Amino acid sequence: MFLEAIWLPIECLACLRRSNFMDSITNVSAIQNIVYIASSILFIFGIKMLGKEATAVRGNYLSAIAMFLAVGITCLNLGIDIKIIISGILLGGFIGSLIAIKVKMTAIPEMVALFNGFGGLATFLIAWSQFNSPNNSFFQHVLIMLTVYIGGITFAGSLVAYGKLSEILKLGKGSWITNILISFFYLSFPALLYVICEPFISQFIPQFSSYFFIFLGLTLIAGLGFVMPIGGGDMPVVISLLNSFSGIAAAFAGLLLLNNVLIVAGSLVGASGLILTIIMAKAMNRTIGNILFVGYASTSSSSSFSEEQGEVKPISADDAYLILENASSVLVVPGYGMAVAQAQHVVREMGELLEANGTEVKYGIHPVAGRMPGHMNVLLAEANVSYDLLAEPDDVNPSMDSIDVAMVIGANDVVNPSATEEEGSPIYGMPIIETHKAKTVFVLKRSMSSGFAGVQNPLFFKENTRMLFGDAKESISQIVSEFKD
Ligand code: TAP
Repeated sequence: MFLEAIWLPIECLACLRRSNFMDSITNVSAIQNIVYIASSILFIFGIKMLGKEATAVRGNYLSAIAMFLAVGITCLNLGIDIKIIISGILLGGFIGSLIAIKVKMTAIPEMVALFNGFGGLATFLIAWSQFNSPNNSFFQHVLIMLTVYIGGITFAGSLVAYGKLSEILKLGKGSWITNILISFFYLSFPALLYVICEPFISQFIPQFSSYFFIFLGLTLIAGLGFVMPIGGGDMPVVISLLNSFSGIAAAFAGLLLLNNVLIVAGSLVGASGLILTIIMAKAMNRTIGNILFVGYASTSSSSSFSEEQGEVKPISADDAYLILENASSVLVVPGYGMAVAQAQHVVREMGELLEANGTEVKYGIHPVAGRMPGHMNVLLAEANVSYDLLAEPDDVNPSMDSIDVAMVIGANDVVNPSATEEEGSPIYGMPIIETHKAKTVFVLKRSMSSGFAGVQNPLFFKENTRMLFGDAKESISQIVSEFKD
């Protein structure tokens, strides 16, 4: 989302530079190029700093300065009515800020999907506007077609991703509409090849030159067909991939407009989006091909892979407190339910009380816990939980059997032992935090319902597991009160 913010305005300004109004300007000034280089360097450092919680805020500011410089120098060079640019920035900034303030933490993934889509739409429109420029070289023609294609797929695909994540769109693999849309997606490959080769073909078949508008429509339908069959559980990976696509399209648009900073910013978005896609796919033990063309998860949580597997043992908050009071090590494993309950502050308070009681406390963070990359990190950082206490699955799993109490707070799929034990399970192969190996496990949730992947969790029925039913915030608040009393 942040990266989208980097290049969208640059892209639009760069487009203006090439518009008819600006045809008189042909040379980019040396100063502009120097500022572009400085902005690019700042972007690179800014993005690097976003990789660590401790430097993320500074990284954000650094990139915002880079953005300001890039937009500012482009405006100065445009020589057009600056009021148009300022009005656009103010209007966009107002709408963006309003959305950012109003959006709930749990709805951020769909917002990111939508913003990706706008990035794709911007490049799609830029390439379209360049189509009618006189004297396009063959290289420019190829760039226009590729930018239209990738931008269009990104826009339409992101709309489907938004619909699926917000559960407005329930259609999935197997429905006849999806099958038709998939056919359009496959049809779009030869169509792309055709439009790329069109300058040669039209020499022999001139009446085919109106192909471009058909191609525009086909690209959008193909984008729907690209994302429609993919399951809701895989949507974060797809969004990250679409983000990467939007960056690639922007880089192509940069080449088309001969705008250096757009090429750099687009490449950064493209590369970082691709790296994130690979990391997330790896965290789910899937290949990207498997996610895009096979899929497993649905948005529905009503289905279950296996039915109840024995008796569950409920526990009260009072009894949980007594066990925690005597524990020498506690591993907190948060999940989506902690975000829903907004329990992060009370979780931090409980952690501090445990530490004051002489207990070693760690937080096990699964890469896909919650509903967006880094979801748990963001929540715990908001509650001022020290970064040093956060650990990844590979850090905690080897010593899990020495943990006295693993507290699973609103997590489900990311601690589901089926992923490692039941070969037929739809989530088999996904790395998990192996809380079932701890001496005692507390699972804090409201009911026996399944998690995002819609599969039952054998952890709830294990001998060493105690279910603390109820809203996570309320349950932990009770434990905190017991500690304070
Ligand atoms: P989930 O498997 O979705 O489980 C969350 C659990 O929280 C549910 O079982 C729910 O049970 C419980 N819960 C909900 N509200 C609660 C509340 N107020 N108090 C206590 N518990 C509450 O979450 P997870 O373990 O974090 O796994 C994430 C899943 O989402 C994975 O399948 C992942 O692939 C998928 N996903 C991840 C992302 C990213 S990038 N992180 C994005 C989209 C999807 P009750 O209803 O019984 O309370």
